[in-house]
Amino acid sequence: MATLLRLFFALIFLSVPVSSELNQFFFAGFKDVGTNITLNGIAEIQKTGILKLTNETSRLMGHAFYTSPFQFKNSTNGKAFSFSTSFAFTIVPEYPKLGGHGLAFTIATTKDLQAHPSQYLGLFNPSDVGNSSDHLFAVEFDTVQDFEFGDINDNHVGIDINSLTSNASATAAYFTDSSTKQDLNLKSGKAIQAWIDYDSVQNVLNVTISPFSSKPSKPILSFPLDLSLILQESMYVGFSASTGLLASSHYVLGWSFKINGQAPALDLSSLPSLPGLKKQQHTALIVGISVSAIVLALSAIFVAIYLFRKIKNADIVEDWELELGPHRYSYQELKKATNGFGEKGLLGSGGFGLVYKGTLPNSKTQVAVKRISHKSQQGLREFVSEIASIGRLRHRNLVQLLGWCRKRGDLLLVYDFMANGSLDNSLFDEPKTVLSWEKRFTIVKGVASGLLYLHEGYEQVVIHRDVKASNVLLDTELNGRLGDFGLARLCEHGSNPGTTRVVGTLGYLAPELPRTGKATTCSDVFAFGALLLEVACGRRPIEPKAMPEELVLVDRVWDRFIEGKLLDVVDPRLNGDFDESEMVMVLKLGLMCSNNAPMARPSMRQVVRYLEGEANISDDLRAPSEFNGGKGHMEGFDDFVHSFASSSFGKMDTFSSTMNRNRSVGFASLSTSSLSLLQGRGETR
Ligand SMILES: *[C@@H]1O[C@H](CO)[C@@H](O)[C@H](O)[C@H]1NC(C)=O
Ligand SMILES: *[C@@H]1O[C@H](CO)[C@@H](O)[C@H](O)[C@H]1NC(C)=O
Ligand SMILES: *[C@@H]1O[C@H](CO)[C@@H](O)[C@H](O)[C@H]1NC(C)=O
Ligand SMILES: *[C@@H]1O[C@H](CO)[C@@H](O)[C@H](O)[C@H]1NC(C)=O
Ligand SMILES: *[C@@H]1O[C@H](CO)[C@@H](O)[C@H](O)[C@H]1NC(C)=O
Ligand SMILES: *[C@@H]1O[C@H](CO)[C@@H](O)[C@H](O)[C@H]1NC(C)=O
Repeated sequence: MATLLRLFFALIFLSVPVSSELNQFFFAGFKDVGTNITLNGIAEIQKTGILKLTNETSRLMGHAFYTSPFQFKNSTNGKAFSFSTSFAFTIVPEYPKLGGHGLAFTIATTKDLQAHPSQYLGLFNPSDVGNSSDHLFAVEFDTVQDFEFGDINDNHVGIDINSLTSNASATAAYFTDSSTKQDLNLKSGKAIQAWIDYDSVQNVLNVTISPFSSKPSKPILSFPLDLSLILQESMYVGFSASTGLLASSHYVLGWSFKINGQAPALDLSSLPSLPGLKKQQHTALIVGISVSAIVLALSAIFVAIYLFRKIKNADIVEDWELELGPHRYSYQELKKATNGFGEKGLLGSGGFGLVYKGTLPNSKTQVAVKRISHKSQQGLREFVSEIASIGRLRHRNLVQLLGWCRKRGDLLLVYDFMANGSLDNSLFDEPKTVLSWEKRFTIVKGVASGLLYLHEGYEQVVIHRDVKASNVLLDTELNGRLGDFGLARLCEHGSNPGTTRVVGTLGYLAPELPRTGKATTCSDVFAFGALLLEVACGRRPIEPKAMPEELVLVDRVWDRFIEGKLLDVVDPRLNGDFDESEMVMVLKLGLMCSNNAPMARPSMRQVVRYLEGEANISDDLRAPSEFNGGKGHMEGFDDFVHSFASSSFGKMDTFSSTMNRNRSVGFASLSTSSLSLLQGRGETR
């Protein structure tokens, strides 16, 4: 009897794991999926039965997986099964030509992916991307070109194996017959059907797309692939989508799937369809007028004043600007946020314009608003796309650009507000408490990793051009964050290419810059070296009040280094309270970065390795001026002094061909006032 009972239970238990027997499903719309689909992130199933993975909110992601896992491999021989899937999707970008980011069919070991949005597509995060223990397979429908992952363009289909660097990719298109290929816009807002077929006998994976229900005879991607090593026995199937700075709504309209067989065909016409695209309704003026019309009590004078002010402050919106809008603030909003750009909210005046503190009226978040007057109308389109590109730079040691607004000749840039002001203030403006060495060391390490990200971590090399203490801002936890990145190049757009504008601040400016006029990663490293020495010594790179032989900080540090008394230069305000080996390392690294020869400076990657203690700096340093003979530092400095004579700004404006190379005038003859001006004193309040 007991044996019989045991057999009975065994039978029941055998029949419970449906998933091992389950080998297909078919959803024409997702209205009645019940618990068979598991949603994650911002994914939702709408009343119409459409699965909406993301909406138009920036930097979010959505996941939808079939709730039960599938048996993807033969447990006897470990060989992956064939499978086939078909689905219909629609991508509606907020602004017609700019997608953000994309959608992917996914086979994963978990329904709960610990992933990032934007370029990570909700599939990976920066630390697991590229790791073969992820066991993740995806077919991406990507609408943004990420150079980081070698994307071919901003409208492609790719096969991704444990990585976002696609193993195979192709521009989105379909074959109308065996030889005629027709391009297809993934973000057209129209339904697109996709078929993914894996044949485990031939070991080939095909991806086919089409705007119609019938499957083209030829796939757009046919990739030889054995999934046996990539997949595990039990895997979940589903979709992932993400948005970045720019956003799209990603929808799935229907989906079928089958293991070891052809997935049931979908018919686009029988799937739920999206309602018409929403209209852009949004004219404050019209609202204003109709409101006043309803509220007849308002006198005509009030209406006139109201209209006058509206028109006066109206934003000038051009068609192309609408395409880049998610973080475009209205002028009214920023004016309100900053109390009308009042004196009281003024945080300082940086290299490019005045900076105001503000509180956004809706979210109550504190922001810093930088007001730049940008007179050049030429190249404004590039200007704004440049802003979009700066906005995509994200790193914990960069001050995040949140958005912008343009009004007549003014450009307003909105940044995260940094509660603790600039490093410059904390070091020099008689701060209440002296920054401890520990804090200083954390700050320089942070700035180094931010700068490394700009140089190597982004789609294109971004040269900061103006690394200096007043551009290092401190957040609430006193982490150092670089500000103003990308601005130098941004402000060059539309300017006459014939005139080379050298941006930088004396003391941080690499000696080759006045000569070449071309900022490089090496010139950023030079400026970073000056910053290192400044932080360690608590002294500006060029100190007009110092003795003539001590005027230039690098020379002073080098002289002490040669004498074997390096620690003499350490900021006396630290009262000897610092880690000696860290201090020596920072000073030596500062000297290395300050080398006159660009090629003799370490790269930011090396700098970070030294700072993180992953590599040791030898004691056998080369003199910063070695490659110039003698006090070569003065060379660049002289160039500077000369060109400065005709300039009245802290920013160096005009070098190029008119540069005066006469070195007979020494810096000692400069007046202190012009030096402090040169140094950028009073740039930040
Ligand atoms: C949900 O899945 C179960 C098997 O797991 C299946 O019997 C049922 O029909 C599915 N429901 C829908 C609506 O597909
Ligand atoms: C997008 O979805 C999130 C989460 O559901 C919501 O907070 C946000 O308001 C939505 N955004 C838009 C533009 O609908
Ligand atoms: C699994 O592989 C074994 C050995 O190759 C084979 O006999 C069996 O039929 C396979 N099972 C399935 C479900 O394909
Ligand atoms: C890959 O991931 C595994 C498990 O998470 C981890 O142990 C391993 O260190 C990772 N490998 C690399 C190269 O990051
Ligand atoms: C896919 O590409 C990665 C590198 O991006 C490589 O390591 C891997 O072997 C490739 N896999 C296949 C199956 O080609
Ligand atoms: C994949 O595409 C190739 C080339 O068109 C074709 O020969 C093959 O039969 C296809 N395989 C599957 C499983 O669709």
